[in-house]
Amino acid sequence: MKFQKICVIGLGYIGLPTASTFAAHGVNVLGVDTSQHIIDTLNKGKIHIHEPGLHDELKKAIQSGNFKAATKPEEADAFIIAVPTPFQENKFGEYNGVTYKLADMRAVISATESIVPFLRKGNLVVLESTSPPLTTVDLVGPILARSGLEAGRDFHLAYSPERVLPGQIMRELIENARVIGGVTPESAQMGHDLYATFVKGQIIKTDATTAEMVKLMENTYRDVNIAIANEFSRLADKFGVDVWEAISIANLHPRVKILTPGPGVGGHCISVDPWFLVESAPELTQLIYHSRMVNDAQPHFVVNTVKRALGSLDGKRIAALGLAYKPDVDDLRESPANEVVHLLQSEGALVKAWEPFKPDANLVGITMSPTLEDAIKDADALLLLVGHTEFRRFNPMQIAGKTKARILVDTVNGWDVEAWKNAGFDIHVLGVGKVRNT
Ligand SMILES: NC(=O)c1ccc[n+]([C@@H]2O[C@H](COP(=O)([O-])OP(=O)(O)OC[C@H]3O[C@@H](n4cnc5c(N)ncnc54)[C@H](O)[C@@H]3O)[C@@H](O)[C@H]2O)c1
Repeated sequence: MKFQKICVIGLGYIGLPTASTFAAHGVNVLGVDTSQHIIDTLNKGKIHIHEPGLHDELKKAIQSGNFKAATKPEEADAFIIAVPTPFQENKFGEYNGVTYKLADMRAVISATESIVPFLRKGNLVVLESTSPPLTTVDLVGPILARSGLEAGRDFHLAYSPERVLPGQIMRELIENARVIGGVTPESAQMGHDLYATFVKGQIIKTDATTAEMVKLMENTYRDVNIAIANEFSRLADKFGVDVWEAISIANLHPRVKILTPGPGVGGHCISVDPWFLVESAPELTQLIYHSRMVNDAQPHFVVNTVKRALGSLDGKRIAALGLAYKPDVDDLRESPANEVVHLLQSEGALVKAWEPFKPDANLVGITMSPTLEDAIKDADALLLLVGHTEFRRFNPMQIAGKTKARILVDTVNGWDVEAWKNAGFDIHVLGVGKVRNT
């Protein structure tokens, strides 16, 4: 089938690049978002998010007449839902004394409801939002049935997760392999035909629930792998081993690929998605649950490492370098660095944080420094929490001239121990027992 007009619902980091790419490939796209501010911004040819290459693609799409933005859907050949699926803030599930987080599906529900009046026979609806297993079949399908049409019989319904990396989205949207799971084989085929408009990577057809599982399994696999790396960091610390050296040697085994330890796991995907599996089957997900617990507890291990370096934390001035959830991004969502700062403060430390990608971040209970110099000048210790390139490239001699601190704690193995020692610093690396730390 030829898709002449599509509606993309939710114009954030996923929906807007998707909408712009379809429009740039000749499809007439109506982008829909509930935020009037976003709609006004886009219709003026501006964008509200930072993603390399996106603005140019959107400007081309608007000039060609193929992209418009509005707060409500219209009739179309296909509808793509790309709205947020965060945690619920104040509600938790419980199973056998274990508490777990719950997905907040309100945006998926209201986005699906907004399609109902415009759904016609032969249409295709695709859910892209990361969702618990069976969402497409048990939640989205029944809401769309309020139109009087049945999924798989009167219209096509599919799930297709996004795997793009922020910063590389415009390229990866086109080049990555994409999975498309239909509620029927015909729905999967329709989804395939839609994304074949621009996807150059392999497009794999399957059923909707498998496609949902694939997305959750990918991020859960990484979370569990990081949990074992974090646990190894604690064991290495206990046994006087350098975990970074040990992992790099273990990874020479052709069938071993251990990811890297650090201060914890953050962001809106890897630290969130495993909970969708726990919520769906708490009785079957002990490993996934415990891996989440290990990663969520890693900030405590960081604090213990800082305590060992500084003795009591009471009244100690600490410069926290980096608050983002990973290097070289401005995204602070679910960042373990924030948790580390709070824990240090609860033990009496006086922390100033410096985040070069978001110096003006407004975080409850965290004092942001306007400059690196301000953060480190009077510090007793510098604490490296994120491996931003600019931190890794610090010149130890220059930093020595800007701070009275002579103690460093590196949680990401970002600094060259010898170079910092030569500049007069005592350096403590997370997951390194006595080998490098003495
Ligand atoms: N950002 C990523 O890197 C990434 C990667 C893979 C998967 N995902 C998943 O994709 C989904 C979307 O994520 P995102 O990062 O684009 O979110 P986002 O917060 O950047 O954007 C979502 C947009 O949806 C809008 N919205 C909310 N409810 C709406 C409704 N009912 N109707 C219309 N618009 C509505 C919001 O105003 C917002 O602009 C999530 O499920 C996320 O887990 C994101």
